[in-house]
Amino acid sequence: MSSSQRILLVGAGELGQAFLPHLSTLPNTTITIAVRTASKYNHLIDDNINIISLDLSGPSSDVAKCLANYDIVVSCSGFGQPAGTVTKLAEDVLEAGKQRKEAGKSPVWFFPWQWGVDYDITGDGGGLMPLFGEQREVRNLLRQEASQSHVKWTIVSTGIFMSFLFEQFWGIVVRQENQITVRALRSWNHKITVTDVKDIGKVLARIVAGDVEGKDRIVYAAGDTVSYAKLADTIEQITKGRVDREEWTVAHLKEELEKDPDDLIKKYRLVFAGDGVWWNKDLTVNYKLNMPVMTVEDYARELLS
Ligand SMILES: NC(=O)c1ccc[n+]([C@@H]2O[C@H](COP(=O)([O-])OP(=O)(O)OC[C@H]3O[C@@H](n4cnc5c(N)ncnc54)[C@H](OP(=O)(O)O)[C@@H]3O)[C@@H](O)[C@H]2O)c1
Repeated sequence: MSSSQRILLVGAGELGQAFLPHLSTLPNTTITIAVRTASKYNHLIDDNINIISLDLSGPSSDVAKCLANYDIVVSCSGFGQPAGTVTKLAEDVLEAGKQRKEAGKSPVWFFPWQWGVDYDITGDGGGLMPLFGEQREVRNLLRQEASQSHVKWTIVSTGIFMSFLFEQFWGIVVRQENQITVRALRSWNHKITVTDVKDIGKVLARIVAGDVEGKDRIVYAAGDTVSYAKLADTIEQITKGRVDREEWTVAHLKEELEKDPDDLIKKYRLVFAGDGVWWNKDLTVNYKLNMPVMTVEDYARELLS
């Protein structure tokens, strides 16, 4: 690690704020948070944390010039942005890398917003999720152009956020008065990888610290990887009550989507009934570094008991 490392954290929402405590305790590191309206985030300013205003949708020349001031760029700027946003950021980072090369500085180390599933496998979900398809193209862009642009990159695949698995609107763990319904996407044997956002922050900090080789590759994290049968069993055990089980097959999910073709959650469910949404825990950075992380059982116990 260089003696003074400058990290730009783009975005300070759910992920950015979960990352801050872990990044800010790294030695010899200063963190700059970039958001559109800096004044909304003054409470986050600390000894080694400052804030600037930056709009990623602004002119690429301005964004790249700003990014070039940092050794590491971590994107936490959300997922709900217009098409093309994640590609534009990747292109602006490539330009920033070129500027740093000309100035005789070290490469930019880029962590794109890929805190999710394995987009190489999901692709665009058969046309259902253009954004997932764009994420795969960002991977291809980095694989093809990062090296010549003086950019290092790390993609951290995390699965869905732990909290998301238990959201009522997701429809997988549904609580109604004293009754809980657990639903399986595709089948009871199908699996899902989930990671708590604080644990993603812990994994990120260990990668940045160089405790695991992360540059120019995709690495994996997992708080847990569970089958839907295991999820239902765990919840039944914790609540000591009967859990209703309902299997949402691919045919059922397709029928449901046909009723509301624009329903994003229904599209998501179909994509999550497919491949690329789970991996074995022994592949993960947290497993290799023997890091304690929150499991589905831990989370369910806190939420439901
Ligand atoms: N793996 C998963 O489970 C998964 C998958 C897909 C989506 N999600 C969703 O992802 C979200 C969490 O991700 P997150 O923390 O990255 O997003 P977030 O909570 O929506 O926060 C986004 C941050 O980026 C800033 N920002 C937004 N647009 C910007 C721009 N053009 N320029 C500069 N800054 C910008 C926002 O600040 P300002 O608005 O103040 O600028 C905010 O601080 C959750 O809503 C989660 O449900 C999760």
